[in-house]
Amino acid sequence: MQYLTDSAADLDTAARLLADGLQVAIPTETVYGLAAVADQPDAVRGIFSAKGRPADHPLIVHLPQLDHLPRWAADIPPLAYTLAERFWPGPLTLVLKAAPGVSPLVNGGQSTVAVRWSSHPSLQGILNRLGRAIVAPSANPFGQISPTCAAHVQQHMQGRIAAVVDGGPCTLGIESTILDLSGTQPTILRPGSISAEQLAPLLQVARRPAPDAPRVPGALASHYAPLTPCFRISHTTLAGLAADLPQCAVVHYTAPLAKAGWQRCLPADADGYASQLYDALHEADRSGCARILVLQPPADRIWDAVHDRLQRASQPWP
Ligand code: TXA
Ligand code: MG
Repeated sequence: MQYLTDSAADLDTAARLLADGLQVAIPTETVYGLAAVADQPDAVRGIFSAKGRPADHPLIVHLPQLDHLPRWAADIPPLAYTLAERFWPGPLTLVLKAAPGVSPLVNGGQSTVAVRWSSHPSLQGILNRLGRAIVAPSANPFGQISPTCAAHVQQHMQGRIAAVVDGGPCTLGIESTILDLSGTQPTILRPGSISAEQLAPLLQVARRPAPDAPRVPGALASHYAPLTPCFRISHTTLAGLAADLPQCAVVHYTAPLAKAGWQRCLPADADGYASQLYDALHEADRSGCARILVLQPPADRIWDAVHDRLQRASQPWP
């Protein structure tokens, strides 16, 4: 895997590799994505094999500019443009009716398509050079934790893709909010850093409790999971586990623990915590500890997206 920086010459190289039909890991403001040109079927197939991802799981189309939207979506409601004006470029993915001709490789053969316009300057540089949309799922092997820096991609995708562009650590650290506008009621399919409260002034949203079909693989029970057994625990359980702590990697947001085998203290606010959660889980996984324990954050709604990811990454303590 070629390592590319965010220099103009390296962004040229990344755009050229993509135009040649190869798969390149790219930074976004949320997590690193694995990109291929959206209208090159063989390039898109390469993403599924590099990730080991089931072929019917739909991908997000990342636009170079807003004016590319009608190439991918049809019957675009005015609300989509209102949201785009407020939140794009940024961490919001919209599910819209698919335009005729969108490949089933891109949208899993559904009548809808997911689109987003990322704010990351390196990705914008690549897309503007390319002049075409890409598809980009998170750049992790299927079922594992999303990468939030180029080193995570190098650890997990070595030998599977052409290059990684290092645009620094992702500022947000968890995947985009997915909002479905294709039905009668706007529905949040995946919570993210844009919260229901931020969307509320513009629309009434519903939160889909548990999608049935694999429209959102992020909604599968076990997803974003470290390889080491990972448990979410309360403060009381943690206090009772003192004797076991030397074998455990503990991710928390409180005072340093006396005996943990490995520990990482995350910021105690929801955004700060989210920005470092995946990095902490990647590191905990590499610590060699027998178990990962994650201290449950507060139940507050502002932590929705974090709870969503923790529920998939970890099991409740037995
Ligand atoms: O922040 C992000 O969204 C990152 C960065 C790289 O952009 N991408 C990302 O992609 O998380 P991925 O493939 O890991 O997750 C995309 C999610 C999946 O859960 C997929 O099922 C859902 O988007 N999705 C894609 N197309 C859809 C559609 N037509 N209807 C419903 N869900 C869709
Ligand atoms: Mg993913």
